[in-house]
Amino acid sequence: MVRRDLDVGENRDAAPLAPEGDRVLEWSLRPESLDDFVGQPELVGHLRIVLAAAKARHQCVDHLLFAGPPGLGKTSLASIVAAEMGASLRVSSGPVLGRPGDLVALLSDLTAGDVVFIDEIHRLPRAVEEVLYPALEDRRIDVMVGRGPSARSIRLELEPFTLVGATTRTGRVAAPLRDRFGFVAQLDLYDTDDLTRIVRRSAQLLELEVDEPGAHEIARRSRGTPRIANRLLRRVRDVASVEGWTRVGGAEADRALDLFGVDRSGLDKIDRRILELLCGPFAVSPVGLRTLAHAVGEEPASLEDAYEPFLLREGFIQRTPRGRLATERAYSHLGLSVPGGGLV
Ligand SMILES: Nc1ncnc2c1ncn2[C@@H]1O[C@H](COP(=O)(O)OP(=O)(O)OP(=O)(O)O)[C@@H](O)[C@H]1O
Ligand SMILES: [Mg+2]
Repeated sequence: MVRRDLDVGENRDAAPLAPEGDRVLEWSLRPESLDDFVGQPELVGHLRIVLAAAKARHQCVDHLLFAGPPGLGKTSLASIVAAEMGASLRVSSGPVLGRPGDLVALLSDLTAGDVVFIDEIHRLPRAVEEVLYPALEDRRIDVMVGRGPSARSIRLELEPFTLVGATTRTGRVAAPLRDRFGFVAQLDLYDTDDLTRIVRRSAQLLELEVDEPGAHEIARRSRGTPRIANRLLRRVRDVASVEGWTRVGGAEADRALDLFGVDRSGLDKIDRRILELLCGPFAVSPVGLRTLAHAVGEEPASLEDAYEPFLLREGFIQRTPRGRLATERAYSHLGLSVPGGGLV
């Protein structure tokens, strides 16, 4: 069983527009076991081996790091690891653990076997990271007690535990920290078939009848991201209840999603704004991340983590050492011709 008593508000800033009811729903749609977890076959296969081996040895699982764009299942995997090991999950995050004392308080209070989840681990301050190293390697922490000449260091032995780290930026996790994880996995954007399965599973949990074409329509407009698939499904469910649809097919999903401004390639307003800028004012030369983010009105980090991976994968934009460029596909998507008629 996954513990449902966790704070459903954790990681609030990941989807700032989602109202509270949606947050609770998002938690309730989380896969509870590796069997429920759709897609990412290679990662799931490796994780099964790591978990089974640890169980057979009656040991904690080695420390795990999950990396990848927002909404791909990192937090879900952390709770699955705890559930599969029959362990409790302790949830924290890089920004919350602002001082070494915060981490000491968390780690010194563990029960043997606990799974500690640190979200956004790339945002741990350096001083906190340094406390973490010996904790991960030798299960000990050295705490300074007192001040001035009477200050002394006390060594605390920790209970065995598993750290699960999550990050949207592997590149931002310092190498010494990354090296202390026994297993580092990168999550990729999902393909439409996997997202279709996720939509069908979620629809069942929400008691909404969605047929295969309906689920496929939602899936292909979800930017490769399960969280977005679930969010679009909830919007389709809203339209269904207002319109009195008892069943959602391809046509219904299409109408509902058009209503919410998600186009047939899955691009939302911000994606289109990015493309409009790259094909318009910035068409003359590659543009840097900060300038683009400023023009769109988003944080550079969220542009890089949440928008670019999909636009790059789908071939709408190109990243060059000098900056971002729109591709031919972007121009044709917007119904524009490529300046100078050349290929980009
Ligand atoms: N493989 C999957 N199978 C089924 N549902 C999934 C899967 N991955 C994610 N989801 C769904 O997507 C939602 C978001 O997943 P999750 O919160 O685990 O993503 P995350 O990677 O932690 O995102 P963030 O980086 O924003 O914290 C979950 O509520 C879950 O319902
Ligand atoms: Mg998360």
